[in-house]
Amino acid sequence: MKKIVVLISGYGSNLQALIKAQQQKQINGIISAVFSNKSNAYGIVRATLAAIPTHVLDAKDYANRVSFDLVLVKAIDYYQPDLIVLAGYMRILSPTFVQHYAGRIINIHPSLLPKYPGLYTYHQALKNGDKQHGTSIHFVTEELDKGPLILQAKVPIFPSDSEEDLVRRVQIQEYNVYPQVVNWFTEGRLEMRNNAAWLDGTQLFPNYY
Ligand code: GAR
Repeated sequence: MKKIVVLISGYGSNLQALIKAQQQKQINGIISAVFSNKSNAYGIVRATLAAIPTHVLDAKDYANRVSFDLVLVKAIDYYQPDLIVLAGYMRILSPTFVQHYAGRIINIHPSLLPKYPGLYTYHQALKNGDKQHGTSIHFVTEELDKGPLILQAKVPIFPSDSEEDLVRRVQIQEYNVYPQVVNWFTEGRLEMRNNAAWLDGTQLFPNYY
């Protein structure tokens, strides 16, 4: 059974979708631990209720990003994970961290990358009058929100939409697709090779830069 470690910073609704998928045996793996950089993240409660070990590391206790990430790596490696899943982890990872888990970290980002890396994606999509928005799942590389794309889910934007409407519409998609992608990885169907994502030996998003 493949071992998964999930990193969160907040509400943990994507973590909840992964827990549910694991409980329903839709993921061929086990969530071994949940790490948060925020002690008040509600996702910690969700993990505890599911009897998953939790750990909190507070950046205030570390001199810099690398020293934080070195301790994080050591703590994560205790679980010998096959896959690191970023689920609303809102802290930039150091190259040290990313290199240590190269090809084994995935992230979900609420935009149709390469559009809107970084923060406030919903606000930007609405402000720019976009007709659609969505979410992207990608392998994590050293450049923020730029690693090889695995899957995108698109949703329409309607003229009457509030930001909350759009967040909800996108997140419903996230809860469906993230467990699916995690399962592809745990079943050995998904890999990162030559800075691209491959599913069942076929390159995904071959024209994506
Ligand atoms: C998710 O919607 C995810 O796409 C986003 O944070 C949310 C976390 O929600 N991730 C990022 O913005 C990463 N750049 P959750 O804590 O309820 O799962």
